[in-house]
Amino acid sequence: MPYTVPKLTNFSAAALDSAVRELLSALEQESAMVASENDWKIYRDRWMARKNGVLTQLNDLWLKAAPGPSKKEVGQRVNELKGKVEHTVEATLARIQSGASSGKLAAERLDITLPGIRRPLGAEHPVIKTMNEIVSVFRNLGYSVEEGPEIETDYYNFEALNFPPNHPARDTQDTLFIVGQESKVLRDRLLLRTHTSPVQIRTMEKMKPPVRVVCPGKVHRNDAPDATHSPIFHQVEGLAVDTDITFCDLKGTLDHAMKALFGSSVKTRFYPSFFPFTEPSADVQISCIFCGGKGTRDGGPCRNCKASGWIELLGCGMVDPNVYGFVDYDPAKVSGFAFGMGVERIAILKYGVDDIQLFFNGDVRFLEQFG
Ligand code: DAH
Repeated sequence: MPYTVPKLTNFSAAALDSAVRELLSALEQESAMVASENDWKIYRDRWMARKNGVLTQLNDLWLKAAPGPSKKEVGQRVNELKGKVEHTVEATLARIQSGASSGKLAAERLDITLPGIRRPLGAEHPVIKTMNEIVSVFRNLGYSVEEGPEIETDYYNFEALNFPPNHPARDTQDTLFIVGQESKVLRDRLLLRTHTSPVQIRTMEKMKPPVRVVCPGKVHRNDAPDATHSPIFHQVEGLAVDTDITFCDLKGTLDHAMKALFGSSVKTRFYPSFFPFTEPSADVQISCIFCGGKGTRDGGPCRNCKASGWIELLGCGMVDPNVYGFVDYDPAKVSGFAFGMGVERIAILKYGVDDIQLFFNGDVRFLEQFG
């Protein structure tokens, strides 16, 4: 039954209360039924039309009918109701216009027969996953984690790592420079770091030995993308400096790390190499994880290790005494080792990925396999 304004005969406070309650409840109920602008116009007119709207009827059926002594109180109540009706009518319009109800009742908008909303679970990116795995191998050995900026100065990226200005060793890292740096002295010029080794310097500047840190992060080179190169990739750098650290410590540490990453049957081999910031320097090779180090597979030469039985994986060496000179360490008192590994390279081997670009193309079909 739609609400109709009752003609009041009893003007006691209790009777007025009850009449007011009934009216307000009807106002709310009818508001809830309004689902479109058309509905709303009808609703508004029903309650507020000058001619015969509910408010107008209140004047006639309540106010004018009230005996003299009750007029004041009835007048106050009618006034209050007027405010409430106007407010509710306005709020109803706002609800419709907010789009919450596109011509449908709230109750009709829920279709419980529809399948639930499935939230696709995110997966860690294989590069980040591998980087975290490498870091955790070293955390378990007591290393802590340090990070440094991706935009570096020439000083940290090259000079303090014992790459003198104009030295040909700089040509081994094809660098991306920030524009407009020419007016600065060389060591202050900004570039995208080509390796995570600058974090070694930043760490030694702020920490006294003993130091044991790994430094994961993104690095940049001016390399054209192909199946094995990417202008952006990731490295994990390692540095241990203390008294009496020897090449044996370096070998034992990296042998352990490679076994932790690739399985305990993997062997390591240290091959002479050159890096300006280590002396002596070595490349670490692991026995080929595809042919078990035999060099042959399925009756032919193993393609993954070019039949050598070994795969080259990372660079390392004993920290060059010249480097200590840049960070105020005494090379007569301390010694240490450093290493640096490419995260994508390790992920490629661990997961049998044949193209580094797959890591950066963002194809969900590739990425969700690592979930
Ligand atoms: N920074 C070297 C590179 O990007 C990798 C490297 C080699 C890091 C030997 C080291 C190291 O700390 O000792 O090619």
